[in-house]
Amino acid sequence: DQDSKVNTDIITLTRFLTEKQHDLGTHATGDFTLLCHALQFSFKSIAYYIRRATLINLIGLAGSSNKTGDDQKKLDVIGDEIFINTMRGCGKVKVLVSEEQEEAIIFPGDGKYAVVCDPIDGSSNLDAGVSVGTIFGIFRLADDAVGDAKDLLLPGTELVASGFTMYGASANLVLTMKGGAVNGFTLDNALGEFILSHPNMRIPKKRSIYSVNEGNTMYWDDACKAYFESLKNPKEENAKPYSARYIGSMVADAYRTLCYGGIFAYPADKKSKKGKLRILYECAPMAMIMENAGGQAVTSQMQRMMDVVPEHIHDRSGIFMGSYDEVEKVKQVYANFG
Ligand code: AHG
Ligand code: MN
Ligand code: MN
Ligand code: MN
Repeated sequence: DQDSKVNTDIITLTRFLTEKQHDLGTHATGDFTLLCHALQFSFKSIAYYIRRATLINLIGLAGSSNKTGDDQKKLDVIGDEIFINTMRGCGKVKVLVSEEQEEAIIFPGDGKYAVVCDPIDGSSNLDAGVSVGTIFGIFRLADDAVGDAKDLLLPGTELVASGFTMYGASANLVLTMKGGAVNGFTLDNALGEFILSHPNMRIPKKRSIYSVNEGNTMYWDDACKAYFESLKNPKEENAKPYSARYIGSMVADAYRTLCYGGIFAYPADKKSKKGKLRILYECAPMAMIMENAGGQAVTSQMQRMMDVVPEHIHDRSGIFMGSYDEVEKVKQVYANFG
């Protein structure tokens, strides 16, 4: 019968990219596909180390901190090194920006792409075995690009691709191309291949789930306080309050929001005036995923996240992202506060 039929027509990430390259038309020289092969090798390697971290003494602090003031975990440093080596090794990348590197890294050669990455997102959760992930974005350098950090001070609308890999029960890669769909791949550890498991992911238009660190409430502006209050103590007749879900790894909160719907927020506040999350390698790639899945992403000033141009490579922004209707509600409350 049908459901016992073995699927022998498996779509691996490699096959998906080859087919996509065909869609991208003749100008797709295969460079992007080779870059993505290097990307997926990074995810497989990072997944390998994360799963064994406790066994090979790779949890805990590295004893250093990064430009944005985070204490670096050993796995932050390992993930960063893996990413640098694979991006250099593929020969297609000219500039790499990483959360863990103060300056942009310029590779020799004539790579046409710039990559931004958060090698391990949610690393404060690592030692507790909570899901963490890798976030990435890919820009195609302009022909007259000089190949330095300034080439990367671009809005999310310039991204040619973005996504993340969440190292949870299995490794889940979520990938989207400019103006394209969002596709989910699951790493089959036996084959060592990412298999297309969630074609054309769409975020539900609404969902009564909110995801924010309420420990920051006293630092929020009045509009932010009023918005979350309206979810927790709705005034409408017979309205039910929202559920709270906050994991503390953006990748895990984003993946749940993409699958179930709802709103994720890390607002700018009195403590973090520009917000905590970094524009280039956290906010913009996630905004592109949410928009391409039918959702939205805005800043704490209610500006479209994809339009924001970072002032420097580690610049930050407040962010509200998720279901289309849920972000509309945020805009409504902020509009009432003028
Ligand atoms: P990273 O581990 O890459 O530095 O990112 C951590 C971020 C993000 O993953 C998460 O949404 C946020 O920090 C959680 O911050 P709080 O602990 O302040 O809520
Ligand atoms: Mn960090
Ligand atoms: Mn992060
Ligand atoms: Mn990180």
